[in-house]
Amino acid sequence: MIIAIDGPAAAGKGTLARRLAEKFNFAYLDTGALYRAVALSLIKDGYEPLNEEAARHAARTLNLDLLNDPDLRLEATGSAASYVAAMPDVRRNLMEFQRKFSESPPENKAGAVLDGRDIGTVICPNADLKFYVTASAEERAKRRVAEMKSRGVEADYAEILEDVTARDARDMDRKDAPLTKAEDAHLLDTTDLAIDAVFLRAAAIIENCIKPQ
Ligand code: DC
Repeated sequence: MIIAIDGPAAAGKGTLARRLAEKFNFAYLDTGALYRAVALSLIKDGYEPLNEEAARHAARTLNLDLLNDPDLRLEATGSAASYVAAMPDVRRNLMEFQRKFSESPPENKAGAVLDGRDIGTVICPNADLKFYVTASAEERAKRRVAEMKSRGVEADYAEILEDVTARDARDMDRKDAPLTKAEDAHLLDTTDLAIDAVFLRAAAIIENCIKPQ
């Protein structure tokens, strides 16, 4: 079973995906981490995130060790990732890894949960279930600030809101695989919903799909 979860930055899709994978014992792939790893590779080598040649090379020879680098989660890495993610060659190079993961999940798990921006539309258009997780930009910025502060990281709400809005624009307005809700995706607006409620709603939809008809 393949479960596709898409949505804008900081909407809570990562938490939801991780919890669903745990509950159903499915494999989980955070596809944003792949774009972040490409971006981090450029940052570490001193390239601009807009350097297509360097980004193409980094995606083709992706160093998977970078997935465990603590700098992967920095705001600057996420922001740079949204630049390299707009490059068709980078997307093409990361596609096969994601499709393979969904079709043959590691450890022979019976299913895979992938979260990102184009999972339901491009990577796994035939996913068994699709969710589009979103929330207002203000609410997402608020959560991002709270999450950073809980890690002891300084965060300014106005700055984060600007970053979230700019990232939305880059992810939604790019030509190749822009962020959009697949027609057959279940919409989960988390603006006024706690993560537990979102999780219960999504889990019920999956259970209903697994149940013999
Ligand atoms: O989900 P995230 O914040 O870790 O993603 C970082 C960037 O990677 C995001 O701004 C856009 C890009 N991305 C993408 O284009 N397609 C995906 N499937 C996942 C992420």
